Amino acid sequence: MANISFYGSHNSSYVVEEDGKILLILELERFLNYKNSGIAQYKCPRTESILFFAEYIPKWIMNKLNITEFENCYYLNTDVIIYEKYDLEKYLPAKNYIHCLHHEGHAAGCFYQSSYNEMLVFSFDGGGNDGKFNIYICEREKGVQLLESVINPAINTQHIYYDLGFPYMLIGQYLKDIKFECLGDGNLVYPGKIMGLSSYGIVNEEWLPEFMKYYKSDPNGLNFEEKIKKLGDIINIEFDTNNRIDGELAWNIAATSQRAFEDCFLEIAKPYMDKYPDIPIGITGGCGLNILLNTRLVNETTRNIFVGPDPNDCGIALGIILNKIKPKEPIDSTYLGSTLLDLDNIFNYIQSSNIRIATDILDNEILLNDLIDGKIIGIARNRSEYGPRALGNRSIICNPSIPEMKDILNSKVKHREWYRPFAPVVKLEDVNKYFEWNKESRWMSFCPKVREEWRDKLLAVTHVDGTARVQTVTREQNEFLYDLLTNLEKSTGVGVLLNTSFNLDGKPILSTVKDAFTILENTQMDCLLIENYYIKKI
Ligand SMILES: [Fe+2]
Repeated sequence: MANISFYGSHNSSYVVEEDGKILLILELERFLNYKNSGIAQYKCPRTESILFFAEYIPKWIMNKLNITEFENCYYLNTDVIIYEKYDLEKYLPAKNYIHCLHHEGHAAGCFYQSSYNEMLVFSFDGGGNDGKFNIYICEREKGVQLLESVINPAINTQHIYYDLGFPYMLIGQYLKDIKFECLGDGNLVYPGKIMGLSSYGIVNEEWLPEFMKYYKSDPNGLNFEEKIKKLGDIINIEFDTNNRIDGELAWNIAATSQRAFEDCFLEIAKPYMDKYPDIPIGITGGCGLNILLNTRLVNETTRNIFVGPDPNDCGIALGIILNKIKPKEPIDSTYLGSTLLDLDNIFNYIQSSNIRIATDILDNEILLNDLIDGKIIGIARNRSEYGPRALGNRSIICNPSIPEMKDILNSKVKHREWYRPFAPVVKLEDVNKYFEWNKESRWMSFCPKVREEWRDKLLAVTHVDGTARVQTVTREQNEFLYDLLTNLEKSTGVGVLLNTSFNLDGKPILSTVKDAFTILENTQMDCLLIENYYIKKI
């Protein structure tokens, strides 16, 4: 009998499992086309429609999988709000309803998606019903055991969980290069932008201890402005949302804050890393998206560092179900998202247009030649990636060997802020040829240096600090992408593609043929590959 789990706050998802196999992962944002969507509580697109989500989505899942009742339904007690007015047993029938824990879910999700039998896991972000910075020891037989829920070391008179996520994000509110958002939205989009901007700056060693105090001052709650202004008074910088900080000063703030975030993490993590010296380390929770910290850990230790495809809260539903079933073999969730939701309509979209040709491609040759010519190609095929990164099934790809490609892509299609880099994808066996890296980075969790001798050839995917958030791929993982890279290298001598998410501005990674065509029509994207149909503007 199948089990179901769900997570209801931002980055909500549902997961169905049967006999140890994950049948479906439904990320609500993809389903509703509303980025970082929750069912209730936070980032709900239509708060008055909780009943619709509570009723409709389980019904959609059960119809799709032909299930009438689940054995167990796992969820967080904080999500009770979703169903407290409604009858959970009616809308989501299960024999048992079982409350679970936020960071325990993160930790289990991380561990059971790895191939390791034992792991020291750090789970940390700005939320949770069981802490904000938790440390676990995980073993395949025994499962996940909590070692510590870290209390803010500077506030030892009160039981306040140590939160590195909120103060990291908050800096984005005051930096002019970062598009201003209300804090609820900024919370989920600022961190990635701060990371990109930090590479332009220099760490100010005099500020660094003050930034570390800021992280430990717990700026959570109503007085966060007061806390950051106090930091500003000490380092003589005005943090004012009406007069946001610009240029090098802003970049140096981002760089120093990034370093302080890393150093605060290491202060807590180091004693545990010393205590458990011989086992791999897992990093999860929303802060596991901080690729600069992840990469520093790899560069400064000889340990195996594992970061899964879903360290942020999109991974909780999968994590809490894995925590219960304790799979003996690693779970590969990478492409367990949905097929295109309106795939049956594909011919309507093709036939309704008279400015395109559609080709049923049997090999990559046409597409390959377009790439070499500098064309920008949208890819939407097979089941979607699960997690925040586009990994080749809902991606926009182009040729990074063309020096102006980053600007071309930005001006024609993506319109991203100038300081945000684009990522490369490379065959796993070639990663060390182009990058100072000799291991997997399957889910873009690390940003090694691009080798000096390749930087001129890979300008479009090399960030200002010489790094790149690389994706590695094997043929087993994604045959289409792998073969394309092989053929590209044969033709051009460079086996690297630029890979960015296929989405409308401000929207999640797309889930419909309709959105793929909308982007083709409304931007200067050149071509579209939907399943095996190749569509070109003519
Ligand atoms: Fe979380």
